[in-house]
Amino acid sequence: MLQISCTICIYIFCCLVPLLNGDSVAYYTAAVYEHHAILNQNSSTLTDRKSALEFMFQNLDIYEIQVATAAERGAQIIVFPEDGIHGFNYTRQSIYPYLDFLPPSHLLPWNPCQEPDRFSDTEVLQRLSCMAVKGRMYLVANLGTKVPCEHHHFRCPDGRYQFNTNVVFSSNGTLVASYFKQNLYFEYGFDIPPKAQHVVFNTPFASKFGLITCFDILFYKPAVSLVESHMVKHILYPTAWMNQLPLLSAIQIQRAFASAFGINLLAANIHHTKLGMTGSGIYSPSQSYFYFDMTSDNGKLLIGKVPVDPLPAGHNAQVSFGSQNINRLHWLHGDVCELDRAEHCRASLLRHQLPPSEFQAEMMYDNFTFIPLAAVEGAVKVCSSFCCYLNYTKTLESDEFYALGIFDGLHTVHGTYYLQICALVKCGGLEPETCGQEVTEAGTIINFQLWGNFTTKHIFPMLLTSGVTLHLPDSWGWKDSHCYMKNENMSSGLVTAALYGRLYNLD
Ligand SMILES: *[C@@H]1O[C@H](CO)[C@@H](O)[C@H](O)[C@H]1NC(C)=O
Ligand SMILES: *[C@@H]1O[C@H](CO)[C@@H](O)[C@H](O)[C@H]1NC(C)=O
Ligand SMILES: *[C@@H]1O[C@H](CO)[C@@H](O)[C@H](O)[C@H]1NC(C)=O
Ligand SMILES: *[C@@H]1O[C@H](CO)[C@@H](O)[C@H](O)[C@H]1NC(C)=O
Ligand SMILES: *[C@@H]1O[C@H](CO)[C@@H](O)[C@H](O)[C@H]1NC(C)=O
Ligand SMILES: *[C@@H]1O[C@H](CO)[C@@H](O)[C@H](O)[C@H]1NC(C)=O
Ligand SMILES: *[C@@H]1O[C@H](CO)[C@@H](O)[C@H](O)[C@H]1NC(C)=O
Repeated sequence: MLQISCTICIYIFCCLVPLLNGDSVAYYTAAVYEHHAILNQNSSTLTDRKSALEFMFQNLDIYEIQVATAAERGAQIIVFPEDGIHGFNYTRQSIYPYLDFLPPSHLLPWNPCQEPDRFSDTEVLQRLSCMAVKGRMYLVANLGTKVPCEHHHFRCPDGRYQFNTNVVFSSNGTLVASYFKQNLYFEYGFDIPPKAQHVVFNTPFASKFGLITCFDILFYKPAVSLVESHMVKHILYPTAWMNQLPLLSAIQIQRAFASAFGINLLAANIHHTKLGMTGSGIYSPSQSYFYFDMTSDNGKLLIGKVPVDPLPAGHNAQVSFGSQNINRLHWLHGDVCELDRAEHCRASLLRHQLPPSEFQAEMMYDNFTFIPLAAVEGAVKVCSSFCCYLNYTKTLESDEFYALGIFDGLHTVHGTYYLQICALVKCGGLEPETCGQEVTEAGTIINFQLWGNFTTKHIFPMLLTSGVTLHLPDSWGWKDSHCYMKNENMSSGLVTAALYGRLYNLD
């Protein structure tokens, strides 16, 4: 079952269609490829460069076909996923033959397709560069690279760094940017770069592109700092993301990141359902094209139009929480929308709510405090060091159990990061201990307003509905030092509505 959805952001359009009317909004055409990578079954055994190249060329052959298809459909840029060429589970030694040499910046510019003999061990870069030329498009791919370093450097035991690397080629094949992944996720073949890189570049069709990779999306450097300090407007995001519901499926965090910062995100994931990997998309603050499919084994090419300016003219000078501009933007839309449909903001008439009883349950390895949604309509509150509030009306009810959960603390499993979360979730069953379990389907439609007095400004709004599909909330933002999210009129059942906050300085 294919699920390519185009979700129009109601809160932007209901307020801004009059402003945009007649204006020519500039777009570029982007492609992301969710690649069913051919994986190396022998990734821990040592091999030679020739065999390594033979293996990787099988994946590159598939890339080449996708570039040709994307070119026919007018794509100006294409993004391929993390680990899509060499696969997973290497050691520092076994990955060595799979690494290309990446020349230092003082030896650039370099066009690998036109100057293939300038550096040795660059066969993968050459093929990628030639694909960009042939498809006449910018091409973003992820590969392993080796970079010479001083033997005495404490992180450089064997004279080289091995980096998980994104590379960008222009449409004439020139290498225009490279980025070394900062936040590695148990990748024993690779080194952490000594210093976080902030890579920003321009293209003829849009400016201020930045690069991050997979796990980077949960950390300050360089993901958030690219947006807040370097004013990046478009993030190119190769990933190999294992879905974890109810809070961290790939499309959920991708959508939330683009929403939170008012930027465009071009995300390409690996497609491997056995590894729980699927979920790619092209996201702007007001629109998204996404793909999630656990039923097929095929890759998927997504192509979509992306606004050159992610936020409409007049509102996009400072895409930064520090400046509060983005907050005011959401505020404004929220207020205008609210006036538009005042008649729908019914006060709750029925309050046959059961006495609230809090309980603890584990969600994604963290101990949440939950409060059940016991009535058809009501208001609930749950607190730890801060408080989460929810008022809700179930407009279409089925026999399903929902609860509002709060967590404020350090997450320590599969990575260490500090979270502050308010989450309305559908529980796995009818027992309290099922709250926090992985759920993908839901039949209950809920109108709600969710808010909390968070102590962080960095909050990712998430709204996931039945079948792992995305929705943009009607409105979200800040009001009286509370972050809120509001939604009515959902067409499918609610799986998760969350305000996912990060306190980066407490990691
Ligand atoms: C893995 O190694 C085995 C034994 O060395 C070999 O027969 C097989 O062809 C290798 N498979 C791949 C995919 O390289
Ligand atoms: C990589 O290792 C993990 C954990 O050991 C395993 O679950 C997974 O199947 C491996 N993947 C491949 C492609 O071998
Ligand atoms: C190739 O593209 C790069 C980056 O856009 C540009 O700087 C360079 O001038 C181009 N080279 C040619 C020969 O057009
Ligand atoms: C939800 O709470 C907000 C803030 O207190 C209030 O303005 C709104 O009317 C409430 N909505 C419902 C349906 O109770
Ligand atoms: C969650 O709380 C329970 C009961 O208080 C405790 O036994 C458990 O260790 C906690 N788990 C985590 C991950 O903190
Ligand atoms: C949030 O609000 C509650 C209730 O008013 C209050 O007790 C708590 O101190 C507040 N927390 C923060 C972090 O502002
Ligand atoms: C909700 O649905 C009503 C009735 O169909 C409609 O008038 C209203 O504009 C919708 N609200 C939103 C936020 O889409």
